Amino acid sequence: MTGSSYPPVSAPRHVGIIMDGNGRWAERQGKPRLIGHRVGAAAVRRTTEAAAKLGISQLTLFAFSSENWRRPEEEVDFLMRLFRRFLRSERDRLRRDGVRLLAVGRLAELPAFVVRELEHTIEATGNGERITLCLAVNYGGRQEIVDACRSLAARAASGRIDPEAIDADAVEASMYQPDMPPLDLVIRTGGEMRLSNFLVWQSAYAEFWSTATCWPAFGEELLGRAVAEFRRRERRFGALTPSTGEPQPIVDCGLRISDWRVEPCCPHQSSRDAHKPFGDVIVQGGD
Ligand code: FPP
Repeated sequence: MTGSSYPPVSAPRHVGIIMDGNGRWAERQGKPRLIGHRVGAAAVRRTTEAAAKLGISQLTLFAFSSENWRRPEEEVDFLMRLFRRFLRSERDRLRRDGVRLLAVGRLAELPAFVVRELEHTIEATGNGERITLCLAVNYGGRQEIVDACRSLAARAASGRIDPEAIDADAVEASMYQPDMPPLDLVIRTGGEMRLSNFLVWQSAYAEFWSTATCWPAFGEELLGRAVAEFRRRERRFGALTPSTGEPQPIVDCGLRISDWRVEPCCPHQSSRDAHKPFGDVIVQGGD
C-alpha cells in the first residue's frame, strides 16, 4: 500500500479472540476452574452468532495453545472431552446457521477422538457461507512459522522451489490455512495485554483490544464494543496520514487520570472485589 491510499476502516473482516479468564471466572463464583471452561463453550456459540450478525467473515478462537499441555492432566483431559462434546453437539447447528468450521494447529498431535470430530465437522460445514469459525487447537504462532519454514526448506532441498523465490507470499502459502485472511482485530478477554503466541504472522497489522471481562461472560455487547472501537482506529499499514501526507502529530487528547475507571474482571463481580489484583485493568471511561 502506498502514499495516502489506505482504505477507510470498516467492519473487521477477520477477528481473533484469545479466550482467557475461564478459571478466574469460575473461582470467583466459588466453582471449580473446569466449570469456567464448560461455560466458556456456551460463549463460543454466542460470540460466533454475534460475529456473524456484525458481518465479520472469519472468527478465529484460541482454544488450546501449544503451551497448554503444561496444565494438570485432569484439565487437559477435560478440555479435550469438552472439544469433542462441543463439536458433536454443535455440528448440526453450525451447518444450519451457515457456519463453516476450520481448525489450525498441530492437529495430528491431538487425541484421535478430537481429530475425528474436527474432521467430521469441517466436512459437514464445508458449504457454510455466513461466517468461518476457525478453532486454533494445539496452536502456536511461532510453531506455525517453524512448520512453514520446514516445508519450504524441504521443497527447496528437493529443487521444487528456488530459495530466491521465497517471499512473504510463499511463507503464507505454507501456513496451516493458506487462505486465512490477515487479522484485523485481536481481542483478549480476562484483562491481560499479551498476544501469547496467537497468530503471530497473521496479526502483523492487527488492532488489539482487551477487556477485563472473563471469557465465560463475553458476548454480543462486548464484541460490538470492540468492533465500534476498531472502526474508530486509524489503520495506516506503515503509510502516512491521508490528509497531510505527514505522520500524525502527538496531540494532547485532554484525558485526565480522573477519566479512567477500574473495570472488574466479570460484570457480576461485586464492587467489593473490584480492587483484587488479578484481571482488573484500567480502561478508558466510556470505552
Ligand atoms: C483460558 O482460560 C482458556 C483456555 C486455556 C481454554 C479455552 C477453552 C474454552 C473457552 C472452552 C470452550 C472452547 C471450545 C472451542 C468448545 P484460563 O483457564 O487460562 O483462565 P485463567 O486465566 O482464569 O486461569
